[in-house]
Amino acid sequence: AQVEKGGYKHFMAKEIAEQPVVLADALRHYLPATGLNLPADLDFSNIDRIILIACGTAHYACAVAKYWFEEFARIPCEIDVASEFRYREPPLSERSLAIFVSQSGETADTLAALRYCSENVAKTVAVVNVPSSSIAREADIALPILAGVEVGVASTKAFTAQLLVLAVMALQAGRDRGQIDDATLAAHTEALRSLPGLLNQAMGLSEPIAKLAESLAEAQDILFLGRGPMYPLALEGALKLKEISYIHAEGYASGELKHGPIALIDRSVPVIVMAPHDRLFDKTVSNMQEVMARHGMVLLASDAKGLSVAGDGTWATLQMPEIAEPFAPILYAIPAQLLAYHTAVAKGTDVDQPRNLAKSVTVE
Ligand code: AGP
Repeated sequence: AQVEKGGYKHFMAKEIAEQPVVLADALRHYLPATGLNLPADLDFSNIDRIILIACGTAHYACAVAKYWFEEFARIPCEIDVASEFRYREPPLSERSLAIFVSQSGETADTLAALRYCSENVAKTVAVVNVPSSSIAREADIALPILAGVEVGVASTKAFTAQLLVLAVMALQAGRDRGQIDDATLAAHTEALRSLPGLLNQAMGLSEPIAKLAESLAEAQDILFLGRGPMYPLALEGALKLKEISYIHAEGYASGELKHGPIALIDRSVPVIVMAPHDRLFDKTVSNMQEVMARHGMVLLASDAKGLSVAGDGTWATLQMPEIAEPFAPILYAIPAQLLAYHTAVAKGTDVDQPRNLAKSVTVE
């Protein structure tokens, strides 16, 4: 079926806005009233390692999921970009479970990595948007993310839908391995179910973000900082911005600031801090203060509590709804995507078809 822009200026804007509905659909499938709904042959009890492999944005979804598998299931978890993994020829074992994440299901490196694993691990699992794709067909188990066709080269709704499926898998792993008690499981399930409403609320930030984007569009370099599961989201925010606005951006773990990137900070460098009021928030605030002491322009996205604790001195703030700590990257994907989108619009670049990029990288 032909996909239309449905009144939006760009496919990317439409796909960002679709996320509450996309996640509601995926939740209906993977987290119905009866509880976690994954295929019966996906069993985490007898494995001792998870390997997550992907490219680009899908790789960052894997990087977030690593935090979840470790926290909920206490299982060692490795991530790699497919182009490194396949040539590294890593040792595998029959007690490893390998998960391949791909929107298109046709990414050449990810497919090659899957083929490398297929004979040598307990099971291969594909988390894909296109159910008829090569990666979906060749994996032992395929889990569709149910995001619908994604046209924009910059991946948006596929990212959050990948995260949702990976979160459900991590909870299942916790249950299979007896590492998560019923109350925690119930609380996490409920938090995931609240996502469509929260994403909708976050969409309300589109207008204020469009105003900030006029200044961001003037920048030469932009830094994104995050801690814990928000660190990979900082990497994703930077990738999104680079792809469509052509502004140089880098994501860093907040704690790495002092180990190099702080040398870049001056009045002209926006630093986007994605930080819900979590366990480590105070540490993030002190990183922010180091940036502000060097006159960096801090844009803080946080919840009401975080914004009040952080105090004055920021260049701008975005007030986010509250969310259970582990799942913050799913919610904060919205402002990250909107920042990239509006900055690209302010610069007048080709948002849906950025230069030099293909939607699906089917050759090396
Ligand atoms: C994301 O915005 C990118 N255009 C790109 O990094 C993409 O995520 C990557 O090429 C992987 O594609 P896949 O999910 O189809 O495998």
